[in-house]
Amino acid sequence: MSGIIGYCGKKPASGILLEGLKKLEYRGCDSAGICVGTDTGFRIIKKTGKVRDLKAIVPEEPFGQNGIGHSRWATHGGVTEENTHPHLDCTGKIAVVHNGIIENYSQIKEKLITKGHVFKSETDTEIIAHLIEDFYAGDLTQALRETAKLLKGTYGIVVMHNDLPNVLVGARNGSPLILGIGDKEMFIASDVNTMTSYTKQVVYLEDGEIITITPDEFHISDFHKKSANKTIKKVDWESEIIEKGDFEHFMLKEIYEQKESVVRGMAGRLNVNLATGHLGGLNMTNAELLNVERVIIVAAGTSYHAGLVAAYLLESLARIPASAELASELRYKNPIIQKNALYFVVSQSGETADTLHALRELKRKGAKVLGICNAVGSTIARETDGGVYIHSGPEIAVASTKAFTSQLVALYIFTLIMARIRDMSFEAGAEFVKQLQGLPDIIDKVLLKSEEIKKLVKKYSFAKSFLFLGRGINYFVAMEGALKLKEISYIHAEGFSAAEVRHGPIALINEETPSLFLVPDDRLRDKIISNIREVKVRKGKVIAVVVEGDDEVAQIADDVITVPSVSEYIYPFVMAVPLQLFAYYMALELGRNVDQPRNLSKSVTVG
Ligand code: G6P
Repeated sequence: MSGIIGYCGKKPASGILLEGLKKLEYRGCDSAGICVGTDTGFRIIKKTGKVRDLKAIVPEEPFGQNGIGHSRWATHGGVTEENTHPHLDCTGKIAVVHNGIIENYSQIKEKLITKGHVFKSETDTEIIAHLIEDFYAGDLTQALRETAKLLKGTYGIVVMHNDLPNVLVGARNGSPLILGIGDKEMFIASDVNTMTSYTKQVVYLEDGEIITITPDEFHISDFHKKSANKTIKKVDWESEIIEKGDFEHFMLKEIYEQKESVVRGMAGRLNVNLATGHLGGLNMTNAELLNVERVIIVAAGTSYHAGLVAAYLLESLARIPASAELASELRYKNPIIQKNALYFVVSQSGETADTLHALRELKRKGAKVLGICNAVGSTIARETDGGVYIHSGPEIAVASTKAFTSQLVALYIFTLIMARIRDMSFEAGAEFVKQLQGLPDIIDKVLLKSEEIKKLVKKYSFAKSFLFLGRGINYFVAMEGALKLKEISYIHAEGFSAAEVRHGPIALINEETPSLFLVPDDRLRDKIISNIREVKVRKGKVIAVVVEGDDEVAQIADDVITVPSVSEYIYPFVMAVPLQLFAYYMALELGRNVDQPRNLSKSVTVG
């Protein structure tokens, strides 16, 4: 999604804004712009394309006092320079950047046009600049406050005025804004990553809050001028983490990081002596957990797939009814909140609009909702009744990889806790703990297949469409594998239950539509082999991810990727990694923009 950065302080603003925009770009960016206050007035530079395109036209020598910047992911109006933020009012003295969507913008725009305002863009954002112009009488904060009262929708807004050097004003409703407090300098941004090389002291704004900053001070109040008492939080990661290091892309780096990120997600959370897990953030006693009669996991995209895997696991091991629901659907379906149901919202970014709104709707109805998030201090993490950070570290590539396996780790530990409270024996618990502890080694072994997979994709890069097929718990991994492939290679791909192929998808099978089967050596293996044969006799090409030494499948399939044999419920980890690599190398082979695929955004904060 779009990203915001604002700066006021002793350094020249342009360099800091460009650096911040570079760090926001991963969220999805099709144009970018900055407005910098200088002795001779605003200097505005905008460019369609990536941040590097903007950088190429900004003077190399940093300049300016305060400033705001924006990386845009188009929603209202095409990708043009006119539609690129910052947007100005009629006088050219008020500049605005905005994330989110103003739902009532067309009604407001009509009124403003009647009053004589002239619009230069097709965006919803521009109305904000014109409204502030109407309300401004020397107090920018008050003008933004009056404006915010008229806006319906979601927004993170930052504004500057030509007559007020070194003042920035912001407002938040449903789209994140974070203040960074430095030494005689302040930052305001939609993403904490933009400021961590300058300061670790941050304040998270809540919905309905307005902020005014100068290099030395900040003041936060609500829309009715009531001052808010805010706690300054410390960010605990280094900005170097979001460097690519020796890897060509963030995605590949993050795929490889999984052997460490799963360990971080388990650290201090497995109890070998008691053969169970411990998740302090749940804020629930074992007695309360025993009373839970149903678990519902709510999420979007990859996080939803992690939820599907976990729901299957919870039913299988903890024998507790569990399901996963798409946040986008749940929020509009008037969900029934069953007594003693426990909800989880799962979100890497902690900012996905659909997931956040589903959370709020569930809470409004009185449900107990816990969060599983990666981004520390994110809105979802803050609004849930408790939860677990997955600690996979910042995930920059748009296609989620390490967050998926870390979400699984958290949900697997939760399942272990629930299972041990119920029917799982000490011995079975101890075995499960052992298997989880073995994950880094197993992932390491799978990563060794990287070169093999790289070669294999060349043979299949002709395909316009792919089927990903799995059964049992791996059915959901097949869905995730298909999502990865379509996200970054733009090859059409769908994940199905291998058994369901005969109920429709088999009509798609021909020499040009390969199928990728997940074939673990579990109780469903023979069934899957029958499904492979059905595809083969219809001239479908088959790639099978199989266990080392499974010669039978190797003989039927056209190609195989071999993985270590593990116990049934550990396969989602073992199967997910080769599919991530498959998508990565395919995208590379096809010359796609791996880390920032077209049309996608890392964090969809509109919905
Ligand atoms: C977007 C991203 C996906 C992600 C989904 C949910 O669609 O492109 O990679 O899985 O949002 O994001 P979340 O941050 O809530 O896990």
